[in-house]
Amino acid sequence: MPAPEALAFDMYGTLVDPVGIGKQLEKYLPAQAQRLAEVWRQKQLEYTFRLAAMEGYEDFEQVTRKALDYALAAVGRELPSEQRDELIARYNDLERFPDVEPGLERLKEAGYTMIVFSNGAPHMLEALMDAAELRPYFQGFVSVDEVKTYKPSPKTYRHAARRLGRPASEVMLVSSNPFDDIGAQAAGMQAAWVDRSGGLFDTLGSPPEIVVKTLTELAYALE
Ligand code: LAC
Repeated sequence: MPAPEALAFDMYGTLVDPVGIGKQLEKYLPAQAQRLAEVWRQKQLEYTFRLAAMEGYEDFEQVTRKALDYALAAVGRELPSEQRDELIARYNDLERFPDVEPGLERLKEAGYTMIVFSNGAPHMLEALMDAAELRPYFQGFVSVDEVKTYKPSPKTYRHAARRLGRPASEVMLVSSNPFDDIGAQAAGMQAAWVDRSGGLFDTLGSPPEIVVKTLTELAYALE
């Protein structure tokens, strides 16, 4: 495997921690919060996969909203629109994981070209880059919105590589989402799995050669 020249980082769950949303759910619906959070995230991803398969597109905020409405219906609860808006707003104000700063600092020093590459709509990514203080480390971000489809469509990974001005084989996707790693590898990218979930990888593909628990570990693994 040739050393990667550029690193493309997934956002949600890899750089920023969605835990803030869970806390907000706990405030509104303590008894249902856990199931609600699970169904919401699952449905959000399912909708992106289905839109990609149908060659349709609605931006990530709309998808996230519709998935929330489904999750609320699934647990048999309603929330006033201000509270639903507040939950959606939390998506744009998430904290970065503690290993993100030291890990990115080291990778930046090592000279990698780094971008954020995400399903997030451009306005969501703009907000998060500021809220989580990510701008100093990255050349910028690539949103799948630029190709109007979702991961793991190979179009998205090829587009990210094109935006980096490199063949996909020289780019490494860094993601905590197994489906994202598998999708990147299928499109010819290298991949690193940041295992933030305790070792459970999808059985649809094999884990990437690089499996780490933190971005600091990733920096050492690439040295
Ligand atoms: C993203 C989702 C997959 O940021 O976490 O693209």
